[in-house]
Amino acid sequence: MELYRINRSAVRQRLTAAAVLLLLAGASVTPVQAANNQSPHASPLITTDPSGTLQTHAPGDSIDNSNPFFQSFGTNGRSCDSCHRQAQGWSVSPDELRQRFARTNGNDPIFALVDGANSPLADVSSVYARRNAYSMLLSRGLIRVGMPLPANAEFRLTRVDDPYGYASARELSLFRRPLPSTNLIWLTAVMWDGRETTAPFKPPMDAGINHEDLLESLATQARDAIVGHEQASAAPSAAIIDRIVDFESHLFTAQIADQNAGRLNGDDGMGGANILAQQRFWIGINDTLGNDPTGESFDEKSMRLFDDWNDPNAQFSRDARGRARAAIARGEQLFNTLPIAISGVGGLNDATGLPVIHGTCTTCHNSPNIGNHSVALPINIGVADASRRTPDMPLYTLTNYSTGQTVQTTDPGLALRTGKWADIGKFKGPILRGVVARAPYFHNGSAATLGDVVDFYNTRFNINITAQQKHDLVAFLSAL
Ligand code: HEC
Ligand code: HEC
Repeated sequence: MELYRINRSAVRQRLTAAAVLLLLAGASVTPVQAANNQSPHASPLITTDPSGTLQTHAPGDSIDNSNPFFQSFGTNGRSCDSCHRQAQGWSVSPDELRQRFARTNGNDPIFALVDGANSPLADVSSVYARRNAYSMLLSRGLIRVGMPLPANAEFRLTRVDDPYGYASARELSLFRRPLPSTNLIWLTAVMWDGRETTAPFKPPMDAGINHEDLLESLATQARDAIVGHEQASAAPSAAIIDRIVDFESHLFTAQIADQNAGRLNGDDGMGGANILAQQRFWIGINDTLGNDPTGESFDEKSMRLFDDWNDPNAQFSRDARGRARAAIARGEQLFNTLPIAISGVGGLNDATGLPVIHGTCTTCHNSPNIGNHSVALPINIGVADASRRTPDMPLYTLTNYSTGQTVQTTDPGLALRTGKWADIGKFKGPILRGVVARAPYFHNGSAATLGDVVDFYNTRFNINITAQQKHDLVAFLSAL
């Protein structure tokens, strides 16, 4: 299967001179040092993260800081950049938020009552009060998404246990992680619950071609973000919205260097954002159920970035760097092939009529070398289940009008959009490229590290993962 539109060596030559210099200098180069070589309105494409170096590919080989993405349109001083930071995989990290809090005594614009605080009525009159009021943001990088129970819901809210005393049927508090505002041309649903997908994306819709539905969804999303998060009285002009969407939809982000494994595009490795930008994609590509519009059947080996590092006899595999590369390659193979007995997943087992699906990570993360699902697939893997609730999260009890059945959840997910009982707890799986730079994970930040993500799956599906397998899977995910 031809995975790329152009050949590998041509792509490798597209690394800019600046990027190569930074890479040669290794992960110790700070973004600030790098910025000295750039014009005042442009930031470098390379930033450091806890496991190495993250690369963003953008037009003109720099990040255009004069784009309205970085401008504030509302009353609270926020811009998209308040919550979508390049160095943090275009999401936002609690570490950096704690620094922002310390530097500004909790007055940085992200600390706004509307959705930065645990409750919009919280006391923010002193530094001490603000530290408490913004604790979900400071501990896990969570924004409070407020949504009402829809009028047509098949269920009612029979009990609210909100530690912050605010949530009700009029407005449930849902604590969610900012999704990355990069790698957007491969989205099959916009937002965790898909609520900004204006029309279901249907084939043929190739990445970068025929994607009007996606651009329209992103425009609506940007307008809503400016009126909601930025508290603007009205959305700015269509021309400004178009510039924001044009900017964000041309960003590609991936890890380019790893502390232990070195360059992720060396020795035929296919890591990094420049190669990623060439990735083939269309709605339904490599569909798990055989519905790829091209008629190709599902290939569980959806990740093939580090195939060539799987050779134990390769020259490079004898030193520490070689061993780190071998671990990444083994992790990739595990991601593609480690058997998982998938059961009890709402939206998947019930939809297919199969009580157990003998799958792998790629049953759900099937988009080749990208890692989301290639058609919209809202499913309930159990992240919001009452059994996993921590005391800092609200817990909602929902009762089905017709059956009287009750369910407890920290976030009803898709069901708050559709009102359907069956949609409770359903979320999309995000794109996995650049994932190491944007901890913590899952919609509610409940997994602090990639190791915790693997532990979640191990427990949820009784996989019996060994310590070695966990290590290798984390090495692979960290190289994405
Ligand atoms: C206060 C923080 C905040 C600000 C400001 C903000 N966002 Fe977001 N963004 C989020 C959160 C939280 C989500 C996920 C919410 C959900 O799914 O319920 C998100 C989701 C997104 C997504 C969806 C990505 C996907 O995978 O579906 C895009 C695109 C996006 N934001 C772009 C923007 C743009 C453009 C702006 C500025 C106009 C902006 N955001 C401003 C917090 C923020
Ligand atoms: C049954 C479908 C399914 C399987 C199997 C599956 N995932 Fe996921 N994955 C999801 C969904 C859905 C989410 C988002 C869930 C949420 O946040 O509520 C997710 C989220 C993730 C995330 C977090 C991304 C982020 O930005 O927060 C990572 C990492 C991940 N999965 C890796 C894996 C690995 C590794 C495996 C195999 C061991 C795996 N997944 C197996 C469906 C699946």
